[in-house]
Amino acid sequence: MHETIEPAILYTGTPVVLISTLNEDGAANLAPMSSAWQLGWSCLLGLDASSKTLQNLRNTRECVLNFASIDMVEAVDRLALLTGSRRVPLHKTFLGYRSEPDKFAAAGLTPQPSILVKPPRVKECKLQMEARVVSIAPFAKGDSRMAIPVRAVEARILRVHADPCLRVEDHPNRIDPDKWRPLMMSFRRFYGLSDGLYPSRLAEGAEELYAPGARGGLRGVASKAIVRAASARYDVREPPELAPGPETAGEDV
Ligand SMILES: Cc1cc2nc3c(=O)[nH]c(=O)nc-3n(C[C@H](O)[C@H](O)[C@H](O)COP(=O)(O)O)c2cc1C
Repeated sequence: MHETIEPAILYTGTPVVLISTLNEDGAANLAPMSSAWQLGWSCLLGLDASSKTLQNLRNTRECVLNFASIDMVEAVDRLALLTGSRRVPLHKTFLGYRSEPDKFAAAGLTPQPSILVKPPRVKECKLQMEARVVSIAPFAKGDSRMAIPVRAVEARILRVHADPCLRVEDHPNRIDPDKWRPLMMSFRRFYGLSDGLYPSRLAEGAEELYAPGARGGLRGVASKAIVRAASARYDVREPPELAPGPETAGEDV
């Protein structure tokens, strides 16, 4: 039988990203985060509204998402409980955070120039994505269980850099998940992934089917027509915002 529980944290396991941004003086800030996911070449980031990173994203609208692998766990952990904010926000003081102006040095990581944005990449990260902020929106508005205000940042990926050791042989644009070992955060602790478990039906078709715009020839024309039809059919106006429901869960049904 399941039991109703109320964990303070619902981090069920997400990859650790080191997000680099530029401070107002042009110095780089670097922060570990794991509320980050991608859909296509767009990305959603969940960020503490008091973070230096969010302030920098508002000011400059640019960042690099540097994906940490398991061999980087110690460097990532050295960045925990640090903020680039000169004045540590009260809730972070309470949690034991301190201000650190040079997070690259604190972590022992190496800045590497980006191509399309000003914040540097993290050289040690085998997968890096340069990105531009599209929007910053409230998140969990009116949710009394959210301890501190947060924002949902939508970013558009502009360029992906991958260490060649991650690529599928003979496929320059594909990452081999057997070679990529992301560092994961689950309920505040660090984990790696196990080996592949089971053949994935979703992975049977060519990965390029998910990028119809990039295909040429007759197949490209056909897939663009399918995407246009899908947009006309499904890209409809959303219903107005729903009123928040009751905050305590009811009985199991
Ligand atoms: C592994 C890890 C994952 C984290 N995930 C997030 C996250 O998803 N969102 C967030 O706002 N803070 C997250 N934090 C906390 C931030 O790193 C922390 O708020 C930090 O002070 C931000 O740095 P900044 O103030 O210099 O931007 C995470 C910390 C660690 C160590």
